[in-house]
Amino acid sequence: VKQDNVESRRDTSGKPTLDVLRSGDPEISALLAEAVAAVEPVSRATHGFHSYPAGLHPDAARALVRAFPGRSVLDPFCGGGTVLVEGRLAGRRTYGRDLSSVALRVSRARTSTPDEATLTAMRSTARRLAEDARHARDLPPPELSRVVQEWYAPHVLYELWSLRSGIARVEDPLVRRLLEAILSSILVKVSWRKSDTSAQREKHDRPQGTTSVLFHKKARELGRMIAELREQVPAGTPATDLGLQDAREVTTPEPVDLVVTSPPYPAIYDYLPMQHLRRVWLGGGEGEDPRREIGARRSWREASRQARHVWVEDTYAWTAAVTRCLARNGVFVTVVGDGLTPTGPIDTAGASKNAADRAGLELIARASLLRPDHARETTRWEHVLAWRKTT
Ligand SMILES: C[S@@+](CC[C@H](N)C(=O)[O-])C[C@H]1O[C@@H](n2cnc3c(N)ncnc32)[C@H](O)[C@@H]1O
Repeated sequence: VKQDNVESRRDTSGKPTLDVLRSGDPEISALLAEAVAAVEPVSRATHGFHSYPAGLHPDAARALVRAFPGRSVLDPFCGGGTVLVEGRLAGRRTYGRDLSSVALRVSRARTSTPDEATLTAMRSTARRLAEDARHARDLPPPELSRVVQEWYAPHVLYELWSLRSGIARVEDPLVRRLLEAILSSILVKVSWRKSDTSAQREKHDRPQGTTSVLFHKKARELGRMIAELREQVPAGTPATDLGLQDAREVTTPEPVDLVVTSPPYPAIYDYLPMQHLRRVWLGGGEGEDPRREIGARRSWREASRQARHVWVEDTYAWTAAVTRCLARNGVFVTVVGDGLTPTGPIDTAGASKNAADRAGLELIARASLLRPDHARETTRWEHVLAWRKTT
């Protein structure tokens, strides 16, 4: 991709912090660079609810959605729903698709705007379930225990099972879904799993009763966050349309004006397996097919050379599918970082550009930033590219 504008940003001491490359429409490329440079923590609306790996920064999503006018926004790799929340806040019709049932559960909780009566019922049910769970003594059924017991202290397991089985008895489906998302948000934190993205075991002490207290606290937090979102979403904005779908076959019931997305960066994460604990506790993974995951880290472990080729083909396929969903003059914005694979780095901007060319899209602008990757003690390019469908 031709670059015609290179700048180094400096922090207040004059040290360069970010290398930025820009090309295409100067105003839009400046806006794209500004958008992906966002790093400040944000607690707006429901963004802070439930961790989700590699989430887009809410300010980046906000700037990218608002940069391009239109009625509707699609995110075919919606993850935790950052783009969808910002789409709703901007009054757009929003479509979210992902291969992961956990992503859809998080997106549903983060984008939903139930009325006050539902939130009150959610809070009071959470309080009652938390009270019941504090002194619970029943183990989960053997088929569940067998899978999860190595990850939890016994009393935590009793509390989680009491919460899980109590939630299953809640009749109102809206309240039940919110409570499931709340339970999902604490399952890793109260476990001995180091984090969502690391399966290392780290034993820690968690006094009896604190799992139930945490559950109730998260319910109150989510209630506050949803009330804030509901207040800020313009009247008449439709609920988000969510679906479990492979991005290579993505569809929408109408042509969309804008796609804003961030696909998996090659060889960085295994999104589906990392949610194993949540799936066994809460179910929902029946329609998932982990073999369909794009860019999975494990595919480089299994067959490195082939993995790069498959990833390029997948990029062609999902770019073509997304282009089919776009209305004429619709805009497609993708945020993608370079991959770090055992056979060397992958330039994702080049592959994205080839895929967009093949799909007949026209580049509007791009910006690339060199960012620190603290986990891997290196730096990696992150790209944001915007195209238009002119035909
Ligand atoms: C970088 S994350 C998206 C994060 C999201 N932008 C957010 O803010 O939370 C990439 C997502 O792609 C999903 N994914 C992987 N392969 C997929 C496929 N073939 N079709 C649809 N989604 C897929 C993963 O489940 C993951 O949620």
